[in-house]
Amino acid sequence: MHIPSFRKLHTIEPGTPDDAAVLRVEHVAVAFDRPVLRDVSLEVGRGETVAVMGKSGTGKSVLLKLIVGLIPPDSGKILYHNKDVTNLKESALMAFRSDVGFVFQGAALFDSMTVGENLDLFLVKHTDMAPEERERKIIDTLDLVGLGDAIDKMPSELSGGMKKRAGLARSIVIEPELMLYDEPTTGLDPLTAASIAEEILILQQRLGIASIVVTHDLPTAFTVADRAVVLNEGYVIFSGTLNDLASSDDPFLHEYLGASRLDRTRHDQIISRTSATRTTDEATRSQA
Ligand SMILES: Nc1ncnc2c1ncn2[C@@H]1O[C@H](COP(=O)(O)OP(=O)(O)OP(=O)(O)O)[C@@H](O)[C@H]1O
Ligand SMILES: [Mg+2]
Repeated sequence: MHIPSFRKLHTIEPGTPDDAAVLRVEHVAVAFDRPVLRDVSLEVGRGETVAVMGKSGTGKSVLLKLIVGLIPPDSGKILYHNKDVTNLKESALMAFRSDVGFVFQGAALFDSMTVGENLDLFLVKHTDMAPEERERKIIDTLDLVGLGDAIDKMPSELSGGMKKRAGLARSIVIEPELMLYDEPTTGLDPLTAASIAEEILILQQRLGIASIVVTHDLPTAFTVADRAVVLNEGYVIFSGTLNDLASSDDPFLHEYLGASRLDRTRHDQIISRTSATRTTDEATRSQA
């Protein structure tokens, strides 16, 4: 496999201690027509991956949007390398966002542009690379996520899994220091989900990026994350290793994880049933 060379475009200010957290969320609260996050704190270290879990509607996507300044918190702070990035002005916000890759819950590609053009747009916006340098970078990044052949494809020509990969590529092309993934494997069959999770892991190990992965999917969390945080009713109700989470006898966690596991088993059953049917169909056809 061709491993392209990655160069950090965004360097950390000199003097930043190595052990400093990349991101700290401190006592953040936000309400819309009702409180969503009441008091949420978490920390992500350099090269570390934290899975954020919790039921639908608990504010996981809101938390990611707060971090990148798309939604202002009612109270609390977001610190990036110890610098307060809550309520930044437009120009400082743009500089901060150039350090952060955000893989949105839906694939956030522009439908009227090819995959390559989608990546190029991002590079133009966030870097001052020359056109040939950008082209090389786009080819290398698409290779890295296994989409080497898709550079001239339109998003409508891609499968769901390929769209997720293209979304990943678009986010990592700027070589972020921090990656935020919102449900990167949801809606994919278990095999594709597993391959995306592996891809995320490779990116982390290869680029040493700190990441937050919002996911309902336990196997994904186990594959990619060092630690997990579970949100419920606006609070962090669990923070610890995945093994501690899996062996917790807290009734809520038990039920939540049980449902997540069941969901997975159901997926697996559907997939094995579908492939069994396909095999039978093929056998019938070849007999005919
Ligand atoms: N911009 C907004 N304005 C008003 N309400 C919002 C806004 N964004 C989110 N909400 C509300 O905040 C709550 C949390 O939404 P959020 O999208 O963060 O949930 P989630 O945990 O990501 O759920 P899922 O697992 O289904 O993706 C929901 O009740 C949602 O309706
Ligand atoms: Mg969400």
